[in-house]
Amino acid sequence: MIIAVDGPTASGKGTIAKALAAHFGLPHLDTGLLYRAVGRQVQINGGNPDDPHDALAACEFPESLLEDSSLRSEEVGGFASRVSVHPGVRHALYERQRAFALQEGGAVLDGRDIGTVIAPEAPVKLFVTASVAERARRRWLEMTGRGIDVLLAAIERDIAARDARDMNRADAPLMAAPGALVIDTTHFGRDAAIEAAIEAVQTRLG
Ligand code: DC
Repeated sequence: MIIAVDGPTASGKGTIAKALAAHFGLPHLDTGLLYRAVGRQVQINGGNPDDPHDALAACEFPESLLEDSSLRSEEVGGFASRVSVHPGVRHALYERQRAFALQEGGAVLDGRDIGTVIAPEAPVKLFVTASVAERARRRWLEMTGRGIDVLLAAIERDIAARDARDMNRADAPLMAAPGALVIDTTHFGRDAAIEAAIEAVQTRLG
């Protein structure tokens, strides 16, 4: 069984995907991490994330980079969003994601284009979203909780810019796949959102 979980940044899709994987005993792939590794590798190479050649060269990142905590930063998230517009980068990362989705027994993948491009045949597709203001508030709480001094307004601006770039790119833009169940977590706590997702999967599977 393939479960595709798509949605914008800080929507709660990663939390939901992890919880679904644990509940149904499936392996989980956070595909955003692959784009973040490419973004970080461009930075390490001193390249320009908007340049398709620099971005493509960075797809040759070492596996160990995926474990690097720097991938979680807002700065690398922005770089990831910028490299992800290049079709060459998306193509280079496709096989790895596709193979993960097709492994025996199934898998849970979260990202932006799982239900539309990576595994359009997935029997269960979720699109997890929340308002920009709520997503910015969550990110701000998480960052200030880690002692990072940052303005809420700056985060809100970055999230809106990232959404616009992810939704308006020509290749595999962020959108709800046809037939996807939309879960809006704006007014949901973590546990309620997870419960709704588990229920949705169970309903889909009959
Ligand atoms: O989910 P995330 O914030 O870690 O993703 C970082 C960026 O990577 C996101 O802004 C766009 C890109 N991305 C993508 O284009 N396709 C995916 N399946 C996952 C992420």
